[in-house]
Amino acid sequence: MRTEDIIKAENQYILQTYGRPEFVLERGNGVYLFDTEGNRYLDFVSGLAVNALGYGDYEVVKAIEEQAGKLMHVSNLYHTIPSVELAKSLVENSFADRVFFCNSGTESWEAAMKFCRKWGNTTHAKPKNRLIAFNNSFHGRTYGSISTTGQPKYHKGFEPLLPGIDFADFNDLASVEALVTDETCAILVEPLQAEGGIHVGTPEFLAGLRALCDEREMLLVFDEIQVGCGRTGSLWAYEQLGVEPDIMTLAKALGGGLPIGVALMRQHVADAIAAGDHAATFGANPVACAAAVVVFNKLIEDGFVQSVKEKGQYLAGRLQKLQERFPDKITGVRGRGLIVGAVTEKPAAEYLVPFRERDILVATAGADVVRFLPPLVVEKDRIDEVVDVFDEILRQESE
Ligand SMILES: Cc1ncc(COP(=O)(O)O)c(C=O)c1O
Repeated sequence: MRTEDIIKAENQYILQTYGRPEFVLERGNGVYLFDTEGNRYLDFVSGLAVNALGYGDYEVVKAIEEQAGKLMHVSNLYHTIPSVELAKSLVENSFADRVFFCNSGTESWEAAMKFCRKWGNTTHAKPKNRLIAFNNSFHGRTYGSISTTGQPKYHKGFEPLLPGIDFADFNDLASVEALVTDETCAILVEPLQAEGGIHVGTPEFLAGLRALCDEREMLLVFDEIQVGCGRTGSLWAYEQLGVEPDIMTLAKALGGGLPIGVALMRQHVADAIAAGDHAATFGANPVACAAAVVVFNKLIEDGFVQSVKEKGQYLAGRLQKLQERFPDKITGVRGRGLIVGAVTEKPAAEYLVPFRERDILVATAGADVVRFLPPLVVEKDRIDEVVDVFDEILRQESE
């Protein structure tokens, strides 16, 4: 099938919920993607923070092949090996005592919300089931997730949303305190708001939320779907904040490209959940879990997250220099580790094509942030290449 025929067929048969550029990606290798016309792209999107190890990691592919040959799916009616191996590693390397497996970010967020309400409704004398979420957040596209996503554009036309959710302002503890009642069971927050424009939560704010949760008997829930698994330069984003959550959600990078979602929790949350309370047919899928075991073992290797931190500082430093040179075009640089955003004066989406014309893929975050999300294994030379291209684009714009 020719490229234009593939695009035509996709327009005809697939529900048009996405706007895609006019090329068709066919394969990937390392930090590069290749389209059907043989063009090569340097990938600073990583499948939206998924491909931490780049494309075609030998050990991930081998684990998938081996597990697919052995056992692909049996459902959660039965014990399997990869899920147990993965759960043990996740628990041993985090705050958590228990995990629940599902298949995507939004599904893990739904699970977290249900667990909060079950905990609140069953472990207190009076029902406690209101949730506090944040303006400008993003938690996915299912109903619980959009209902806790503080961006009206994701709600429009889909009302009514889930009841019992109050919205506070990110990094503003007073706005949270004002909303807490005896009926509030949990505070739900991204430690770093990613899709909303790469806003880093301050350690004081997140420590304040932790203290408030302890004082008012509420759960603190971190959405680390995008920023967990090494992305910010530590295994978990919360490690750089000095606070631990009661529940944390993961997805994206963990599966090495296969769909997986996880809700991790402390024992006191797990105690409120009984057999049959929640389920997912594909959850704990042996192939996804086998891939995730390999990915996770690499993430926790000595020096891996440290290298992410260093490369992230390098990328942010170079972008800051660009900001100094083009202060009327770049008005800020935000992020942590290898999730970095350049705040742009004009709509960030207008930079996607100029980058692509120079064989580089980048994303946006919110209306005015160009988001750089390279595979975590990216080398410094590739970072230089991307920033040099941005420099050239900005220079040409100024001419
Ligand atoms: C912070 C955060 N939460 C939840 C989600 C939803 O994940 P998924 O698309 O896997 O459902 C995303 C996806 O971008 C995310 O960034």
